[in-house]
Amino acid sequence: MRMVVLGLGYLGATHAACMAELGHEVLGIEVVPEKRAQLAAGEVPFYEPGLPDLLKRHIETGQLRVSDSYAEAADFADVFFIAVGTPQKKGEYSADLTYVDAAVEELVPLLTRDALILGKSTVPVGTSRRLSERADELAKDIDVEVAWNPEFLREGFAVKDTLHPDRVVVGAFPGGIAETACREIYASMINEGTPFIVTDPPTAELVKTSANAFLATKISFINAIAEVCDAAGADVKSIADAIGYDARIGRKFLNAGLGFGGGCLPKDIRAFMARAGELGAAEALTFLREVDNVNMRRRTRMVELTREVCGGSLLGKRIAILGAAFKPESDDVRDSPALNVAGQIQLQGASVTVYDPKAMPNSKRLFPTLDYAEAASEACESADVVLVLTEWAEFVALNPVELGRRVRQRKIIDGRMCLDRRNWTVAGWDYRA
Ligand code: UGA
Repeated sequence: MRMVVLGLGYLGATHAACMAELGHEVLGIEVVPEKRAQLAAGEVPFYEPGLPDLLKRHIETGQLRVSDSYAEAADFADVFFIAVGTPQKKGEYSADLTYVDAAVEELVPLLTRDALILGKSTVPVGTSRRLSERADELAKDIDVEVAWNPEFLREGFAVKDTLHPDRVVVGAFPGGIAETACREIYASMINEGTPFIVTDPPTAELVKTSANAFLATKISFINAIAEVCDAAGADVKSIADAIGYDARIGRKFLNAGLGFGGGCLPKDIRAFMARAGELGAAEALTFLREVDNVNMRRRTRMVELTREVCGGSLLGKRIAILGAAFKPESDDVRDSPALNVAGQIQLQGASVTVYDPKAMPNSKRLFPTLDYAEAASEACESADVVLVLTEWAEFVALNPVELGRRVRQRKIIDGRMCLDRRNWTVAGWDYRA
């Protein structure tokens, strides 16, 4: 099938390349010139395992093309995916829908045939209805259907999650073609047995926000238990293992540590609270405020712990920070807990050197005043304390004996509870987590 993907960020570029992989003819629209040039040359402007091969292959065969022209898009296909960003509004909790609205405003007046718009971006409940009404106003003697088809991919696993998702959800208004079109688009995964859930648009929108709210809650739950463990001298990792054996609870997303960041969970729970408030249901989601609080406390606690380990003051101390991305296998530093901690520690008078296997360029852009090293060992040179804040495999595999020769003091704080405590203590390190 021919299709257009509007917006080629993490979500859109992955979706476009994966749709080409499924055999569809895809035109991707990206308005940022540098990003567009890179993608058109077959280069992925961010780190996502497996995506460069896919993109290069389909750009080369012409199965996937990139453009900035909405006129070309309108002419090319009758199915349009919206994959633009929905960031948090500045100074507010709610989502900024400028880019989603702009996509509809720009596209629909150019359409000359009936069309289907499938939203993939994470949006507040009610957005499909609003966009559908606006599309009706903008459409010239044609039918433009709007339906929501949320995306559940995780960065770092984006290709696998797109080609082999846990489920496909389509929220459609009655009488349209969205369900039939999606059955054709996603035929390969439906044939694999992937659950295909057809519902109405508000439900589809809420499926996505509820999923992210639940994941965030799970992480903050275990981090709240971690606070009690700290006070009681108990081991949160053993608790997660033990409760995780109960299939109703499950072990996934129960890793205590520095908490969640990134471009999705933090802003999505806030937008969800804001939207519930607008709908008069604020009370239902007040617990998410606490989920957010527990999560933000993790960052402050990490700074306090570092200060404690330094003997009460960070002034003049050398702190090595291993990890800048919000999670491993990503170069994304949006709302990164690691960089947030790095910034706070620097503000308290320490000299901070950061190393991350993939996120250095993005980190330097966001926090130009931090020092950066080219390798983990270099970041740890003469350090008073080493902080592991993103659980990259490279850090898990570090040799405590070798690293011990580089540092001024063998003190390590494992912010992701990912290191083998015994290995580090045997090598003479003061290990905290
Ligand atoms: C998240 C969801 O997992 C995806 O399903 C969703 O599609 C996506 O948001 C989105 O809305 O686009 P992502 O932001 O890529 O995906 O990252 P996650 O793997 O969910 O991790 C989020 C944060 O939680 C990371 O900072 C990670 O370090 C942290 N985390 C995760 C924990 O602190 N503990 C855990 O046990 C798991």
